[in-house]
Amino acid sequence: MEVIIAKDRAELAEVAAGIIREQILRKPNSVLGLATGSTPEETYARLVKYHKEEGLDFSKITTFNLDEYIGLPPSHDQSYHYFMADRLFKHVNVNPENVHVPMGMAPDPAAFCEWYEDEMEKAGGVDLQLLGIGGDGHIAFNEPGSSLASRTRVKTLTEQTIKDNADLFFGKGQEHLVPKFAITMGVGTILEAKKLLLIAYGKRKAGIVKKFVEGPVTSQVTASALQLHPDSIVVIDNEAAAELEHKDYYKWVYSQKGELQKVLDRLAGN
Ligand code: GLP
Repeated sequence: MEVIIAKDRAELAEVAAGIIREQILRKPNSVLGLATGSTPEETYARLVKYHKEEGLDFSKITTFNLDEYIGLPPSHDQSYHYFMADRLFKHVNVNPENVHVPMGMAPDPAAFCEWYEDEMEKAGGVDLQLLGIGGDGHIAFNEPGSSLASRTRVKTLTEQTIKDNADLFFGKGQEHLVPKFAITMGVGTILEAKKLLLIAYGKRKAGIVKKFVEGPVTSQVTASALQLHPDSIVVIDNEAAAELEHKDYYKWVYSQKGELQKVLDRLAGN
């Protein structure tokens, strides 16, 4: 797991958007796994900027979102469909036919989940999966106790997640408006992506960042499953990195990247 510590939120978004841009440039028909929440908002804003200013091309990109609340139609302004259209899709040239967000109004959610997994497989699997992290360590809506082998399915949200999401989106004290259930990719589904990119910022994430980066792999903190993935990158700001024991080492590794590349180039005779 590569840990990149950015100085602040803006630098974090720049690094994360840069990794996604690089993926799109290297493989214009990439399959991107996308996330919602307040954390990726600035990253999406940067991708929109790259599209508008540099012509970053989304026309061959396919997307799969991690999750969606059950019972919210795509037109609801707190649905993840709405969030994605508002922050990214309507500002770039992605083909709407290639966009996938779980359907919170599906009449048969279990059948929908199976279909969603099949669609991911048909698309060739996710090349790069963007992730945030919830206060209890969840990725997507894989709350504590979710099997590390879980697949796309219906989950019941914890009371804390409902409260956090009320505070950030629905409005403080508006917990009764937040759906209690969601369709979410499973941890096993997420681990199948070729590359994982988890982003987090701020003091409120420092404790959970310490747990998932340096603690044991456990279904009680589903983000810790990133430790099992051969190509996962964690980009956090200084505040979120505050409790990491090996912070200086992660910074050192990052500062030596150019040097390492020179050594590898020399060995390869370039
Ligand atoms: C929700 C989403 C997660 C996201 C989390 C964190 O629970 N299902 O995918 O990572 O919120 O949100 P934020 O980025 O607002 O802290």
